[in-house]
Amino acid sequence: MATHHYELFDPLLSPADADAMVRLCERFGRYGMYSQEASESEIGEGLAQRHDAVMNFINSGGRFGRHEPLATLAARTNYFRESYAYGDEILIDGIEPFLHHPGFVDAARAVHGRPLIVPAIVYANILVPGQELAVHTDVPEFRGANRKRFPQWLMVAMHHSGLFDAWRMPIVTGVSWFSACAGGEFVFYPEGAAGAPVALKAKRNTAILLDTDSVFHGVDRVMEADVPLPPLAMGMRLTYEGHDRWRVGFGDEAVVRYHWDDLRFSVSWKAYCFADEAERRAVAEHTDDLTRDVVVARLVEDLRARGRLGDALPGGTELALLMIDEYVRFPPPAE
Ligand SMILES: [Fe+2]
Repeated sequence: MATHHYELFDPLLSPADADAMVRLCERFGRYGMYSQEASESEIGEGLAQRHDAVMNFINSGGRFGRHEPLATLAARTNYFRESYAYGDEILIDGIEPFLHHPGFVDAARAVHGRPLIVPAIVYANILVPGQELAVHTDVPEFRGANRKRFPQWLMVAMHHSGLFDAWRMPIVTGVSWFSACAGGEFVFYPEGAAGAPVALKAKRNTAILLDTDSVFHGVDRVMEADVPLPPLAMGMRLTYEGHDRWRVGFGDEAVVRYHWDDLRFSVSWKAYCFADEAERRAVAEHTDDLTRDVVVARLVEDLRARGRLGDALPGGTELALLMIDEYVRFPPPAE
């Protein structure tokens, strides 16, 4: 069984720098709801971008096998997200030390054994009480295959198939926590989907760094103590009102208000891990890109070799569901 390398940070930052991350979050002030737009490509048309994770969550009822109406499940998993840095672009002043955190860079080298680490994005996730994040692996990237050109579930299936490792761009993710909520543990499967889960408390000013494209992970439910989860709807925003108070709603009107201590605030850092400058150049100059036709043909060939597909080729959606089913093997729900 493969054991995935990960590193823990406790503390991640100095107390003053950790406070600065909280102030930065307040200063940014408004967070939109992270939604899953439908896939537009002819293969798997109409499927959610993360059809793999969504279907697993609905079918399994999450890590604890809870079954709830679809609208409730949607409200639980539509959390709030904004980017703080994208490549070299700084979207809020003060994020620079986090973007170039030397501990993250060193740990990133250890995860993939690749020395050239290039930070790609820093973003915040905020979950309100009652929200959780379904178990999933993140969307990987391959030369020529990114979110703009390929549906996300296809890139996930490509990675789990192991057939495109030569084109993969290894990525690491650091996840750090800066709030004080109860619940909301970060759960991951370092020994693979069949291994035991590890649940980490989302403790303020700590972090984990790992290959989230390969390691299944999710977030357990944030404790609903005083305020039960309201019927959150797409397009609502989370806005900081000052004095440790946050508001959720479409505009100035509040559907619900929370105290800072009830929210789960995490900041994620993703970086590309290159072997050397030559590899980085090959990526930038697109000298060895995959195309979607090549990818689908290779997967179809493999599905036939595995006995999952006969001579006839099913329609796009059926073929897409077959690929997800064959390659993306989720951890079972807890007993
Ligand atoms: Fe993730």
